[in-house]
Amino acid sequence: KLKDNTIIIVLGASGDLAKKKTLPALFALYRQSFLPKDCKIVGYARTKMEKDDFHKRATSYIKGTEDAETANQVEAFKELLTYVAGGYEDSESFVNLNKHLEEIEGNYQSKERNRIFYLALPPTVFIPVSKNLKEQCYVNPKSGVNRIIIEKPFGKDLDSARELLSSVKQYWTEDETFRIDHYLGKEMVKNLLVLRFANIAMSAAWDKNSISNVQITFKEPFGTEGRGGYFDEFGMIRDVLQNHLLQVLSILTMERPVSFAAEDIRDEKVKVLRAIPPIEREDTLLGQYVAANGKPGYLDDSTVPPNSVCPTFAATTLWIHNPRWEGVPFILKAGKALNEAKVEIRIQFKDVTQGIFKDIARNELVIRLQPNEAIYMKLNCKTPGLHTRAVPSEMDLTYKRRFSEIKIPEAYEALILDALHGDHSNFVRHDELDVAWKIFTPILHWIDGKNGPVPKPLSYPYGSRGPKEMDDFIKKYGYRRMADAYFWPVTNL
Ligand code: BG6
Repeated sequence: KLKDNTIIIVLGASGDLAKKKTLPALFALYRQSFLPKDCKIVGYARTKMEKDDFHKRATSYIKGTEDAETANQVEAFKELLTYVAGGYEDSESFVNLNKHLEEIEGNYQSKERNRIFYLALPPTVFIPVSKNLKEQCYVNPKSGVNRIIIEKPFGKDLDSARELLSSVKQYWTEDETFRIDHYLGKEMVKNLLVLRFANIAMSAAWDKNSISNVQITFKEPFGTEGRGGYFDEFGMIRDVLQNHLLQVLSILTMERPVSFAAEDIRDEKVKVLRAIPPIEREDTLLGQYVAANGKPGYLDDSTVPPNSVCPTFAATTLWIHNPRWEGVPFILKAGKALNEAKVEIRIQFKDVTQGIFKDIARNELVIRLQPNEAIYMKLNCKTPGLHTRAVPSEMDLTYKRRFSEIKIPEAYEALILDALHGDHSNFVRHDELDVAWKIFTPILHWIDGKNGPVPKPLSYPYGSRGPKEMDDFIKKYGYRRMADAYFWPVTNL
């Protein structure tokens, strides 16, 4: 049930996030007829520009415009877009924005008015903007809904996050607030609930009795490259582990929700997160990339402060103290400037009981989030032919092959559509964020040198698999690497 008479206001409209993600996602929704009837989009930012200029910028990252049909749709999409320039701190600018919104609303047939504010903004202005929007641009709830969409970074540790969240809460209720973690909009993350709870075979093996260890891995093949100023303040843990990978972990490990209702799902996520104690230093491995193969090291990035010890690679092992997961290590690892682009969940099962097999490969279930979405299970089968030997093989569900007709939507498309529907299931609830920070704050303070000497990250070459110490780190938690699945030494029966 989309609401007619909706205006989507993109604040920070000339910034990177808006140009690269928000506006292209809005276009994708528009062209699939997923935007509400008569929906309008208003860009807002400090930069003064003419409408045409804004149109050009707003559509500059839309792909496929060499195709005439897409190009025409982009032209039609521009008709929805207007722009207002203004500051973030002063209320007058927002009075002005409100005037513009009222003008648009003056053309609506009915009295209904709905405003969705998307803050593609740095956190430094979250508070004044949420205040100004509430005071100047909030429609009477009797006439429609007001919603605010915000995105990380939500603070730098537990205290600063609490401060930020409670400041925004002064103006916007939890029901009106949509905190984006864009990983929750990814197809394979959304798939987890179905995969787990719609398959009895999966549910039956989903615990400490069957599973030895789990890795959730994020790899990017590029470094900070000019984005070092932002990155250095946050580091890999805040950038990816504490939010994206922890979100994946919570859905992977939560108990079955009573229903698919947002609060039922989020209750279960919070419950499992609360069973995770703060991460220990010895369960942490930090790295920073150095120049290699003609590529610059992290410290060679001119936007990075000299001698920075900020980790660009981090692996942390988390433990869940509940009956389902006691003793199973969950290794979250993420790195920039690695050998490939890949995000995956790798669940390694325990050995089969000894006796009839020796040296047999373990089952592994791999859920590849990106690129090239896939789910595959490594399992042993008999080598075809007259020998009776076990050989590792795969059961392979590659999306491109199995669902070849379907285009997988971008995370932001899915999330903006959810926000338009008022569905909170794939957004982060206040208490979820609080407990996420509790898990990570002690090691973050240690890394920041708040309670002793700053730990020095291990170096790894740009384009490598990460610090060489990582293999031993993972082994320590029981992960068994298979030499090469297809050439695994087979066992004579
Ligand atoms: C962002 C991080 O949240 O996620 C970036 O700030 C990272 O550093 C990005 O590159 C990764 O998102 P995706 O969707 O490309 O995996």
